[in-house]
Amino acid sequence: MSKIFRKFLIKQFVLVIFVILTSCVRPATNEAWIEKTLEHITSQLRKAALHYSPEKIPRSCDHSDNMVYADLEDWTVGFFPGSLWYAYEITRDSFFLSQANRFTRELGPVSEINSTHDLGFMVFCSFGNGYRITGNPSFAEKIIEASDNLASRFNPKVGAIRSWDWGNWEFPVIIDNMMNLEMLLWAYDYSGTELYREVAIQHANTTLKNHFRDDFSTYHVVDFDTIHGDVNIKQTHQGYSNESSWARGQAWALYACTMIYKYTSDATYLKCAKEIGAYILTHERMPEDFIPYWDFDDPKIPYTYRDASSASVMACAFLSLSHYVSSGLSKQYLKMAENILRSLCSEQYLSKTGGNGYFILQHSVGNFPGNSEVDVSINYADYYFLEALKEYMEISNYAVQDAGN
Ligand code: GLY
Repeated sequence: MSKIFRKFLIKQFVLVIFVILTSCVRPATNEAWIEKTLEHITSQLRKAALHYSPEKIPRSCDHSDNMVYADLEDWTVGFFPGSLWYAYEITRDSFFLSQANRFTRELGPVSEINSTHDLGFMVFCSFGNGYRITGNPSFAEKIIEASDNLASRFNPKVGAIRSWDWGNWEFPVIIDNMMNLEMLLWAYDYSGTELYREVAIQHANTTLKNHFRDDFSTYHVVDFDTIHGDVNIKQTHQGYSNESSWARGQAWALYACTMIYKYTSDATYLKCAKEIGAYILTHERMPEDFIPYWDFDDPKIPYTYRDASSASVMACAFLSLSHYVSSGLSKQYLKMAENILRSLCSEQYLSKTGGNGYFILQHSVGNFPGNSEVDVSINYADYYFLEALKEYMEISNYAVQDAGN
C-alpha cells in the first residue's frame, strides 16, 4: 500500500470516528416545546418592536393590560433592546437585527448618566450585546463611557460602588450591583485600563464579605459608613424581611459570581457560585416546577406569588456554571436549567400570544413590599429567559431554522 493511500485511509478513518462521536453527543433537540416557544417569541417580539418605540420602551404589563414604560433613566431600559439582540441570535431573523440596532442607538444618552449603579444593566445588555454581535465601535465607546461613570461611584474607604442615590442610607450597596461588574470586567479586557478591573474586584470582594449569610443566602442591601467603611445595617429591602431570602437576590448572586469567575478565573468566585447553587438546588421551598416563590421565606408559601424573572436569571446562571464544574455537577446544573426552561415554556408562564403587552413571559414579581409590579410580565424576565434559551440551544446544538431573510 502506498504512503499516500495509507494517509488517505487514516484521514477517512479519523473523519468517520469524528462523525460518529459528534452524532453521539448531539442530543435529539428540535423538540416541540422549543419550537412552540420560538414561534411565540418571534410573534410577540415582532409585534412589540412595531408597536413600541425607543421613546416608549416596554417595562412591564399587568393582567389588566396596564403598561409601564421605561424612560432613559430607568434601570430596565436596556432589557428590551437586549431581548431584540437575543431574538436575532436565536432566530437569525434580520428584522430583529435592524430593530435591535434601532432601539439600542436611541439609548445613546444613557451612558452619560452617573447617578445610578444600574449602568451595567442599562448599557451592557443593550450596547454590550450589540457590540458582541455587530462589532460596531460606536457601541464600544458607549460601554467605555458608561464604565467611567460607573467606576466614578466607587468609594475606596468602603471598597464598593454606591448603588442608590435615594433613600436614607449613607452608602447603600445592593447584591444586584454585582451584575453591573460585567461591564467593568469587559471594559478592562477591551481597553486594558486597570482601574475598571480593580474597582470590579474590590467591589466583588466587599460584597462576598458582607452580603452573604452562613448558608450562602444573601442580604439585599448593606449600608456602609463612609468614614471607617464599617457596616451600618444589613437589610432585604425588596424581600419579605431583613433575614429572608429574596429570590431575585439569590439569582443575581448566582449569576454574578459565575460571571466574575468566567472573567477572572479566581476560584473564590467559583466556590461561592457553587455554594449559592447548592442553596438554591436543595432548598426545601423550591417548588416542583422550579419557578421560585418571590421570597423563599414568605410564610404564605405556597399561597403566594412565583417569580419568573428569578427563574430566568437562575437558568442562565446554572447553564453558565455548568461549564466550570465536574461532569456530575455539570449534569445537575444543566438538568436544573432545563427544568426551569421547560416550565417557563409551558402555558402557565408564557404570556398569551398577542396579549400581555407583547411580553414573552408572565408571573414575575418586581417589588412585593413596595406593592409594585406584582405578578406581571416584565422586561428583565424576558431578557434573561432569552439569554438562557439561547445558551441552552447552543449547548444542545439546537439547529435554528433559517428565517430566510
Ligand atoms: N435590580 C432591581 C431588582 O432586581 O428588582
